Amino acid sequence: MKNINSRYAWFCLFFLSIFLMGCQEDKVVITKADYTDAEYEVLARTLNLPRERADYSVTLPLHMARQGATAPAVSSAKATLGAVLFYDTKLSANNTVSCASCHKQSLAFSDDVALSKGFNGELTKRNSLALGSAPNFEVSYNGNSVSSQGAAFFWDERAHTIQEQSILTLQDDIEMGMDLDELKNRLESIPYYNILFTKAYGSGAVTPDRVTEALQEFINGFISGTSRFDEGLNRSTGDPFANFAEFTAQENLGKTLFNTNCSSCHGADFTSVVETVANNGLDLEYTDQGIGARTRLDFDNGKFKVPFLRNIALTGPYMHDGRFATLEEVIDHYSEGIQAHENLDIRLKTNFQFHGEPLKMNFTEEEKAALVAFLHTLTDYQFIQDERFADPFK
Ligand code: HEC
Ligand code: HEC
Repeated sequence: MKNINSRYAWFCLFFLSIFLMGCQEDKVVITKADYTDAEYEVLARTLNLPRERADYSVTLPLHMARQGATAPAVSSAKATLGAVLFYDTKLSANNTVSCASCHKQSLAFSDDVALSKGFNGELTKRNSLALGSAPNFEVSYNGNSVSSQGAAFFWDERAHTIQEQSILTLQDDIEMGMDLDELKNRLESIPYYNILFTKAYGSGAVTPDRVTEALQEFINGFISGTSRFDEGLNRSTGDPFANFAEFTAQENLGKTLFNTNCSSCHGADFTSVVETVANNGLDLEYTDQGIGARTRLDFDNGKFKVPFLRNIALTGPYMHDGRFATLEEVIDHYSEGIQAHENLDIRLKTNFQFHGEPLKMNFTEEEKAALVAFLHTLTDYQFIQDERFADPFK
């Protein structure tokens, strides 16, 4: 009986494989190519795009999915267009800078200078922000988009979506200086854009809405979730406060210190922030008032977006003005340097009180090194090497 079964199984397997081989051959013929030969020939003159379009749909790390998070639905045709736009210097007035000039993939889409150079060589007013943190990109929890709960874009949170951010950046006098009519004319005259806009939107028409939506779709795919920290959280019970088996004793010590002193604003799971904006006592008097410069309210002076710390070891220099070159300097600030600014957040005051003094965390050298070691576990090497996010220009 057993014998017959196994002979029968081999027989089936034999025919199944012949059948599959047939399908394989067929598959090459019947696969719906994303581009015709003629289209691909045009694209390939300038761009290194895969013949079969890359899949930009997002898989969230287990620990985020377990919390009920859902990833934004990304259209691969729009994200492919977005990738090209992101790396194209033609999006700036004099064809000199692209989004990627100030948001470099190897640096988790941040820049390695305090202030970045715009299209005319002028410096940006603030430090470039890293891209690639889940809560930035409309990951939603049980249907509630985190963005709509208050997270927003730029150091002063003046934009609420990446589309809004992009339209401001494109036209910014320092960053890209682009006129939107000129952008339309320029891009519509380029054959590869005609193909890519048609694939994404059904026609080659270039509108500001399409440009910024495609950029948003591309950036929505930047969910960095494969750092050692993520792996630790995936494998543990999902409790960021528990020690991770795969961390060294030093990294676990750093994690504990972070959870005690820092997570009240920055969040313990690096998926959502607890506080969206705060004053962290960098100065007694700020030259850049941050949110206050926008709202003109005294109690907003010196408040800035609480930045997401994913990939933080790659995104220095740090703070809105890039004043700290290293993570060690950042830790020294929190340890001994917090200033008694009138809007200093109570989490950084003694006894958690409005009238408290600036906290002195007074970390030992060993604790400082542990905090830095922990922050390094947030680096996601897969994300910064992901081909789908790389420069598509030849
Ligand atoms: C000349 C440098 C430069 C260029 C070019 C540039 N950016 Fe930025 N980007 C910055 C700086 C600086 C900030 C922070 C500015 C601020 O907060 O006022 C920033 C902030 C952002 C943010 C907000 C991130 C957050 O967490 O709040 C996003 C998103 C972004 N840029 C995307 C883009 C896109 C898309 C493009 C291309 C259309 C682009 N940037 C072009 C320098 C640049
Ligand atoms: C009261 C809320 C709060 C607490 C608590 C807090 N931070 Fe911050 N953190 C901020 C804000 C706000 C900024 C941005 C400030 C600015 O640029 O003006 C920031 C910036 C940073 C940056 C720079 C990020 C970047 O992209 O430039 C790092 C790193 C950092 N914090 C780490 C820590 C660590 C480590 C601790 C604990 C020792 C901590 N923070 C505690 C609010 C907080």
